Amino acid sequence: MSNNVSLKQLTDDLERLEKEAANNISLAVEKEELEKLRIHFLGKKGRLSKILGSMGALESSERPIVGQRANLLKKQLNELISGRFNKLKEEALAEQIANEKLDVTAPPAGTPFGHRHPLISTTEQIVDIFCGLGYEVQEGPEIENDYYNFAALNIPEDHPARDMQDTFYLDNDLLLRTHTSPVQIRCLEKNPPPVRIIAPGRVYRRDAVDATHSPVFHQVEVLAIDEGLDFSHLRGTVMAFLKTFFGDLPVRFRASYFPFTEPSVEVDVQWKGKWLEVMGCGMVDPAVLEGLGIDPDRWTGFAAGLGVERFCMVRHEIDDIRRFYTSDLRFLEQF
Ligand code: DAH
Repeated sequence: MSNNVSLKQLTDDLERLEKEAANNISLAVEKEELEKLRIHFLGKKGRLSKILGSMGALESSERPIVGQRANLLKKQLNELISGRFNKLKEEALAEQIANEKLDVTAPPAGTPFGHRHPLISTTEQIVDIFCGLGYEVQEGPEIENDYYNFAALNIPEDHPARDMQDTFYLDNDLLLRTHTSPVQIRCLEKNPPPVRIIAPGRVYRRDAVDATHSPVFHQVEVLAIDEGLDFSHLRGTVMAFLKTFFGDLPVRFRASYFPFTEPSVEVDVQWKGKWLEVMGCGMVDPAVLEGLGIDPDRWTGFAAGLGVERFCMVRHEIDDIRRFYTSDLRFLEQF
């Protein structure tokens, strides 16, 4: 075969090889591909070597023509390969830079902000209103003893509230406070009247969980002791507070009984066609004041215990107390 090889054939072969190689090189998208093409076309056993190998059959005068052409082609293809190689490198770098680009003007993605739990913001609203009326915030411990939680509040030994059924006892004497009323006693022990305080906080009862009961809930205690305070001051304060908090919801006072107030009332607001109790209150029982060495003939006052959950439920139209404690973001994010 080689004997029949003509100059024309070899130059045609070279031309074809040039076209094919140039085309493949320009299409290469990876550096490894270029190296393979180089080996395929220009390597020791590559296509160009093959063409050169068949040069022996040419006239000696023809060989340099093919040889020169082949050298030139080799040089050209090497240039094409390194050109393409550099181009790919540049593109890769450009892409990397584009990916790593930091847009300093872009607004931050930001961490999602938390916000106040609806029970906390309701407590704050209640506290704010009373602060506006001249009350000061006081806090007491959640772990109380029998004296502050019961005895000092005139709650007798056999009162059902003292029952194991209602109270979480830690030992014979220590317990989780069942209401915020013990703060009344702690306050009056330290501060002689006149006093006007509110005490927000968590309270505990051994209640089974349902739509309106939770073993942990929140109260705000109110206490005002001064000379000459009577039931009209209690009623005026409660009405002013409720009007500020709820606007014009219907309100009713219902006679009731608490050992530490006399007379005692429960206050209901009308919500969704039903009366809902939102607080207990009354005139501080003289026995409580006497127990603290305060003269009940000179000092009188009123107290109230507000159920924060109830206020929050009415304000935000929530009908199940359990929603407050389940940490469901779909619920909490609404507030
Ligand atoms: N401590 C009562 C309770 O938790 C609520 C209460 C009623 C508080 C009357 C008061 C009050 O201060 O005067 O059920």
